[in-house]
Amino acid sequence: MKTAFRTHTCGALRAADEGTEATLSGWVNVVRDQGGVLFVDLRDRYGLTQVTFRGDKDPELLAAAEKVRPEWVLKVTGVVIPRPAEAANPNMATGSIELEATALEILAQADTPPFPLDDRGGEVSAGIRRQHRGLDLRRKRQTEFLAARAQIASTMRQHLESAGFIDIETPTLISSTPEGARDYLVPSRVHAGSFYALPQSPQLFKQLLMIGGQDRYYQFARCYRDEDLRADRQPEFTQVDLEASFVEEEDVFAILEPCVAELIETWRGEAIAQPFLRLPYAEAMERFGSDKPDLRNPLELVECTAEGAALGFKPFEMAAESGGMVKVLVGPGAASFSRKEIDGLEAVAKGMGAPGLAWSKIGEEKPTGPMARFLGGEAGEAFLAKIGAKVGDWFCCAAGDAALVYRILGSLRDTVARKLELVDESKNSVLWVTDFPLVEWNEEQGRFDAMHHPFTSPTDETAEVLLRAAAGDPIPPEQIGGLPSKAYDLVFNGSEIGGGSIRIHRADVQAAVFDLLKISPEEQEARFGWFVEALRFGTPPHGGLAFGFDRFVMSLLGEAGIQEVIAFPKTMTASDLLCRAPSPVGAEQLDELSLALSLPPADDS
Ligand code: AMO
Repeated sequence: MKTAFRTHTCGALRAADEGTEATLSGWVNVVRDQGGVLFVDLRDRYGLTQVTFRGDKDPELLAAAEKVRPEWVLKVTGVVIPRPAEAANPNMATGSIELEATALEILAQADTPPFPLDDRGGEVSAGIRRQHRGLDLRRKRQTEFLAARAQIASTMRQHLESAGFIDIETPTLISSTPEGARDYLVPSRVHAGSFYALPQSPQLFKQLLMIGGQDRYYQFARCYRDEDLRADRQPEFTQVDLEASFVEEEDVFAILEPCVAELIETWRGEAIAQPFLRLPYAEAMERFGSDKPDLRNPLELVECTAEGAALGFKPFEMAAESGGMVKVLVGPGAASFSRKEIDGLEAVAKGMGAPGLAWSKIGEEKPTGPMARFLGGEAGEAFLAKIGAKVGDWFCCAAGDAALVYRILGSLRDTVARKLELVDESKNSVLWVTDFPLVEWNEEQGRFDAMHHPFTSPTDETAEVLLRAAAGDPIPPEQIGGLPSKAYDLVFNGSEIGGGSIRIHRADVQAAVFDLLKISPEEQEARFGWFVEALRFGTPPHGGLAFGFDRFVMSLLGEAGIQEVIAFPKTMTASDLLCRAPSPVGAEQLDELSLALSLPPADDS
């Protein structure tokens, strides 16, 4: 670390260096003036060192040092001396020594920071911190996050490279990709009226690399998606994207598990058994109402369609009659929930599309709450026996089509477990969710969409069914939604940290899938003709995955917000407060791109 400005970093000096001369450069963290002696804690990314200026030894130097203020940048030379025993700081790596200054150079002065940079900085509004990110990044927490992120990246690179993956870049000015969320577009100056799209993922390029014989590829790929943002979503994010030839699902899992297990052990302190659990999608939905269940949460949904329909409660009857379902979530000991808490849970359910929340508490005498009047008699007893609720429990029900029921109860399962403190945050849950359906029904468009993307391989049996359909033996419509694929997600502590699949490598199967998705030959040609064409020239079986890197880092560090683990994040409205993007551009620039704006009239109200 020795440079023209320093012999050591601010985190390096120890008792063994006592008596040596050292030069440090860094920021003034705090200044303490004790009349005749000035203490300056000098800070850099590596730590803090206490520097002392003593009037009795060098009054001129002390006078110069008395001018320094927090965040000034200094170069200090001095002698390493032991601190008196009572002044030693065991919480600081350099806490047994101090640097007694013999020379001081002020490298830069600083304005007063708009917010404190010590731990109190956590209370400062995120907006102010983002605007002054250059200062914010000096905070210990931020520095630690970035260092951790870099180490996690390095571990992943090492694992992938030792498994034969090579780092290959793919373009970021491309045409539309198939993930379905909205593209960010970039106008072309040369081709007036035409646009590039920024990649939502390098999906087709990595498949082309497999067609091109590159066998094992990986990349830290920047991806862009113009979609609604959440605490774990950014418009611009990083994938650790990878692809391998001549693999099936289990090969992909075996390649990645040692890497994931090492990261969890390093950053969460828990050894995870391999192979990880594999949970089929259908089972995940039935038991947990989610395709990314946190298995630290012990609650499971109970299937009660028949028992619910027998209660004489109209919505349950209707759900059963229309091919839907009734499911129940029991909160053990949750009869203690207050009315206000239950109203909060009802609000969660309504947010997920429920018309209301049917619930009951199991009291010593009898059940109470809105469902209570349906729980008397034999049908009620059978229902209570099925859900296994005991005195002191609370339960709620959801009825309707599967998607709605799972959405409501999947969300309530999380909320209720957290309220009851059933989730041990010190533990970890990692699993593969497998056997995703190939397609899902798109109500708005009245057709099936690919659940992952149109290049996901159906299972071998599904491929046979699709090929027969292409040859004129149609698939009964009610079976289409259940056709399984070779897609999988990696789920860590209830967060989807990676998704992938084995891909289609046969042109006839690809054509049959396009048929099923009602993607016409014209549309195929326009959107990904270049790829389909390449597929015909000898494609190896291949598959892979993309880790959501920011999300993975966030989960490993136990952070609730993705923005914290990104050096220069965007806000929930996709703005960069630092460089003020997006921003309007001048007429000249628009002219050059042959663009004219058609904006809605400004709202003056
Ligand atoms: P998918 O769309 O599942 O798959 O994305 C892979 C992973 O990327 C993360 N992710 C995000 N992270 C932050 N902000 C976002 N807006 C965001 N969107 C997704 C998630 C997700 O699991 N091409 C396929 C991968 C493949 O099939 O190999 C793809 O992009 O953690």
